Amino acid sequence: MLGNHFLHALLALCVALTQLVPCLARSATGDRALLVFDDRVDEIAQYSQLIESLREQHGLAVDTVELSDKAARVDLFNRDIRLYDHLLVFPVKGKHFAKQLAAKKLLRFTEDGGNVVAVTAPRVASDSVHQYLNQLGIYPAPRTQHLVDLVSGTDVIAAASNASLNAHVYSDAALVFGDSVSPALLDNRPQIIPLVQASKSSFAVSANKTREQSWTQGAQGYIAAAFQNNQNARALWLGSTQALSNANFAQNAQALGEMLKWTFQEKAVLKVTGVSHAHADSGLSYDQLPYKVTDDVVYNISIAQWDGDAAQWAPYVADDVQFELRQIDPYYRITMHALGADPRDATAELYSTGAFKMPNRHGMFTFATDYQRQGVSYLSEQDIKAIRHLANDEYPRSWEITNAWVYAAAIASVIASFVGFVFFFVTAPASLSDGFTDDKKKN
Ligand SMILES: *[C@@H]1O[C@H](CO)[C@@H](O)[C@H](O)[C@H]1NC(C)=O
Ligand SMILES: *[C@@H]1O[C@H](CO)[C@@H](O)[C@H](O)[C@H]1NC(C)=O
Ligand SMILES: *[C@@H]1O[C@H](CO)[C@@H](O)[C@H](O)[C@H]1NC(C)=O
Repeated sequence: MLGNHFLHALLALCVALTQLVPCLARSATGDRALLVFDDRVDEIAQYSQLIESLREQHGLAVDTVELSDKAARVDLFNRDIRLYDHLLVFPVKGKHFAKQLAAKKLLRFTEDGGNVVAVTAPRVASDSVHQYLNQLGIYPAPRTQHLVDLVSGTDVIAAASNASLNAHVYSDAALVFGDSVSPALLDNRPQIIPLVQASKSSFAVSANKTREQSWTQGAQGYIAAAFQNNQNARALWLGSTQALSNANFAQNAQALGEMLKWTFQEKAVLKVTGVSHAHADSGLSYDQLPYKVTDDVVYNISIAQWDGDAAQWAPYVADDVQFELRQIDPYYRITMHALGADPRDATAELYSTGAFKMPNRHGMFTFATDYQRQGVSYLSEQDIKAIRHLANDEYPRSWEITNAWVYAAAIASVIASFVGFVFFFVTAPASLSDGFTDDKKKN
């Protein structure tokens, strides 16, 4: 009996304790993560602090798969259902791995909305990971090459600058990458967000003594880059495993933690909570009273941003959110004003164009907000509406048009002068023509 009571009390205490601990599900998309590694390349024990932080700080449920074991299987999908929200791939090698983690599988995972962290290292040929990164536009050096910096005087590779290249992803920090760094060339597509640039005096050298051409030279190379696809799935590439190891974890924890937060969609995630437009004067919506040419219209949009630390949505404030009114070409591109929290939904910021006049042209118009900034989720909202022309009786009458006054005055003056002339002709005295008729008669 007593034991039973004691157990119940213990259970109640446990429940109370778990409720005190803040909720750890901080990603906006989910907390299922898979870590793939290979013990032949690196002992996973070297990354224990990273894995602990994934569990503690990021609140992820981390599964691990060790790929030197031939029996290990990597299942990212069960039929068409994605099994993980996040995938971390450490350098792995061998044919078994190439089959289990084919580039196609990784791409499908990204296309389906999964977030990927891929770490590459010199001297490990993770072909399928390289192929996957190449598809994204990130071209890591072949396995024979690694980055050196002969000017710095140390083997340790440093970034070109401690300043962050994208403040949405991470803030300024002095990162350490160790002496085994695989540099990459980046495509210039807008989905790629360069994060850490190699220093001007660094270049890639071949590990074997052949005269292989250098993959990157100077600031051409990058040590870390991020990618966000058009569906807002994210990927992070790091060219150094040592940056994540326990030896450097304390120094890198802050900045790398932010990069991981960004990749796991714990921050810089935006969503639109409401879009509306209406007549500026009456407040009637399009459904109540369709717009016609030259009507005054106002357009509003509300945008919220995910705050992973508080695990809730909060207003997103920026000064570069633009509205476009398009019919093939934009007729208007208006930078909207942030008006503070949306009165209908306090977790979002309300943006408004203020009143603008519809162009004097009828047809199908698109009311659009295309917010595509590097480092935050892409937003794209479109609403297509037919704008009618004026009805016969809706045109202004001639006397309301000041330009017409000139012509009206001309007509009036012609009429007046004709009437005046006739009046003068009829009433003029006969004596005016006397002299002429007399002469003619004499001849
Ligand atoms: C980055 O910061 C570290 C430590 O604060 C400093 O030693 C190093 O010179 C800085 N690097 C650059 C390029 O400013
Ligand atoms: C050395 O580099 C050459 C040229 O790229 C390559 O064909 C060869 O496989 C490399 N050798 C080793 C041992 O990596
Ligand atoms: C847009 O926002 C303004 C300011 O809150 C509000 O007065 C107006 O009614 C809104 N218009 C629409 C169409 O939601």
